[in-house]
Amino acid sequence: MNLSKKAKNIQPSVTLAISAKANEMKSKGIDVIGFGVGEPDFNTPLNIQEAAINAIRDGRTKYTAASGIPELKKAVAAKFLKENDLYYTESQIIISTGAKQCLANLFQAVLNPGDEVLIQTPYWVSYPELIQLADGVPVFIGTDEKDNFKLSIDKLEEAVTGKTKMILVNSPNNPTGTVYNKAELTMLADFAKKHNLIILADEIYEKLIYGNEEHISIASLSEDAYKRTVVINGVSKSFAMTGWRIGYAAGSEEIIKLMSNIQSHTTSNPCSIAQYASLEALTGPTEAQTAMIEEFRKRRNYMTERINSINGISCCEPMGAFYVMINISKLFGNKVEGVLINNSMTFSSSLLEHAMVAVVPGIAFGVDNYVRISYATSMENIINGLDRIEAYIKKYYNEFQ
Ligand SMILES: Cc1ncc(COP(=O)(O)O)c(C=O)c1O
Repeated sequence: MNLSKKAKNIQPSVTLAISAKANEMKSKGIDVIGFGVGEPDFNTPLNIQEAAINAIRDGRTKYTAASGIPELKKAVAAKFLKENDLYYTESQIIISTGAKQCLANLFQAVLNPGDEVLIQTPYWVSYPELIQLADGVPVFIGTDEKDNFKLSIDKLEEAVTGKTKMILVNSPNNPTGTVYNKAELTMLADFAKKHNLIILADEIYEKLIYGNEEHISIASLSEDAYKRTVVINGVSKSFAMTGWRIGYAAGSEEIIKLMSNIQSHTTSNPCSIAQYASLEALTGPTEAQTAMIEEFRKRRNYMTERINSINGISCCEPMGAFYVMINISKLFGNKVEGVLINNSMTFSSSLLEHAMVAVVPGIAFGVDNYVRISYATSMENIINGLDRIEAYIKKYYNEFQ
């Protein structure tokens, strides 16, 4: 049967494929350490769990308004005002089934066939696929480790065309942990203004920042930036609520209305119970969140120091999110048990086979000299996993024994 060409062009998520392979090995009794996951290993805080239970008991189990309950929109507006210096009315806010649905809604709402979206490489795996599902064209702009994986204006100017519609700014960044400072965000906002582009600001890792940088929303920089930006955020990463599936977006009333119309026909409303849980997340106590961030900070510090002490691999210190990009390019050209290691896929497969450590090959993010590991796993796993990586390199890579 002649099935959808668009659907056939969509790549399955490499990150999920690696997790599936690691889980399969685990189910066979093999002791695999997984560094692939993109979600906090902490449980959702108790006050949020209670709010969900109460919502069920109180019968808040019916359809809600398609774009979300007014109480949660109010809480989101209050959050934006208090934390990001951004004023939005309720009609400028949509609640969706995860930030991912906000992204899907937005691309559907603003892109016409052939419209181009500028995205930095390395990029989060779902951006290109979601853009293509909306008939848009992802245009990749390379960044370098020596520049902390930050976009340069020269490269952006080279990539922009008459068809460019949008620039995507993801800070803190998945997979690099890069956090853009005010001067850099101003440069990006000026670029967007010059070329009359929509700015998509994916700020889902906002709370997970460990260095001296503070999170600044690009929308807060000027009246112009405010008008052309759609900010996307959610509770998944910041409140250990990945499974609850609540994200939100804020922007011009016109765009949010289109996004809400699309959502009303695809999923109706996001889960009513999860919306009440998210209301508690945004308005209740935040001690559990603070403790989680502190733990991530400890793990990040240990991980980066340890990786840079291992001969043959290196990393730069991520400023946010919970991932480290390990540069593996020095290992290329070596053979492990007869298999040539010459890219991120061959390295990741070899590491899984010989060291029982699962990492995500950089090619999933558009870069082949790296693998991504996540520190959203216990300190014990981190120490153990890095011991294994070190032993594997010493054993199989003559140059680094
Ligand atoms: C950069 C980025 N944006 C958005 C999302 C989607 O988050 P949600 O769980 O809210 O759909 C993720 C999840 O991994 C992410 O890494």
